[in-house]
Amino acid sequence: MNPIFKVCGVSPVYMGRASELLRELLPEGRVVVVADERVARLYPSLVADYKTIAVPAGESFKNLETILTLCLRFIEAGVDRSTFILGIGGGIATDMAGFAASIYMRGLKFGFVSTTLLGQVDASVGGKNGVNVDGYKNMAGTFTQPQFVICDTEMLSTLPDREFRAGLAEVVKTAVMADRGLFERLEQTDFATLRSDRTLLEEVIRTSVAIKAGIVGRDEREAGERRKLNLGHTLAHALEKSTQRFNHGEAVAIGLRLVADAAVKAGLMPCEDRDRLAALLRKLGFDLELPVSMPTLLAAAAKDKKNKDGVLRVVFPLSIGTCEVREITAEDFGRLF
Ligand code: GLY
Repeated sequence: MNPIFKVCGVSPVYMGRASELLRELLPEGRVVVVADERVARLYPSLVADYKTIAVPAGESFKNLETILTLCLRFIEAGVDRSTFILGIGGGIATDMAGFAASIYMRGLKFGFVSTTLLGQVDASVGGKNGVNVDGYKNMAGTFTQPQFVICDTEMLSTLPDREFRAGLAEVVKTAVMADRGLFERLEQTDFATLRSDRTLLEEVIRTSVAIKAGIVGRDEREAGERRKLNLGHTLAHALEKSTQRFNHGEAVAIGLRLVADAAVKAGLMPCEDRDRLAALLRKLGFDLELPVSMPTLLAAAAKDKKNKDGVLRVVFPLSIGTCEVREITAEDFGRLF
């Protein structure tokens, strides 16, 4: 089976049945699985042959305490340098599996079966493995490319609608960031069709992964172009920090709408494009109402530890399909709302 892409020339991404691909891709020798506890329950046959460590699902568990627990479980299980770690789950599980594997004994080889749409189109691809610290997103982590990423679209059929929709937020982000054609394809369809039409869904995933693989190949360590993948995330992260109500994708949808508003106010984006974006997000079922006040959200964004001297790095959409990273003070950003 050929990969659909090879990220940075070393990290192939496959689309197909996980059980079949794993037979080809797993190395000889010991394999230890780190799996989202829900996924381990849903797919017992996938993990049956391996020592399996379940990790709790949910952003609140994506922290250094869980990484410490994983390292302790690795020691108990006799994991050594020759052990291959297989992470199975959505972006949260693969982030934790990848992070633990890349620091344990100074680094083990690892690969992923990505089981959520959000993981397949974004989080599990590209070699970022991070956890949150004190509620700040992805403050500790590594850039280490997995040996492979498997996107099994059949596994998406068991995802709750809410989780599936969360992945669509990252697809919409990708389209606004870099692919007008993808955006138009999304405009021509709807949530129910994307859930049921496997060919369309695979095309959407393939296109999203292609864009991400291209960007990561040119800027693996996020010195420039990779920052564009954070479109909508400045305020999404602030929203996730200010309220526990949203999953990541839901916060990204609101973050996209808000940054498009700001881009229109700054004269960077035509209002028709902003309106098309809001209409698409609503059609896909996102609630775009802001549950906290704008000053509260801006204060949380201004406090983000990744800012330098009060300057935010914000990705502004310029149109459907193009965007630009700008440095802007928190005060000036606040004036755009
Ligand atoms: N999820 C953003 C990135 O991989 O850079």
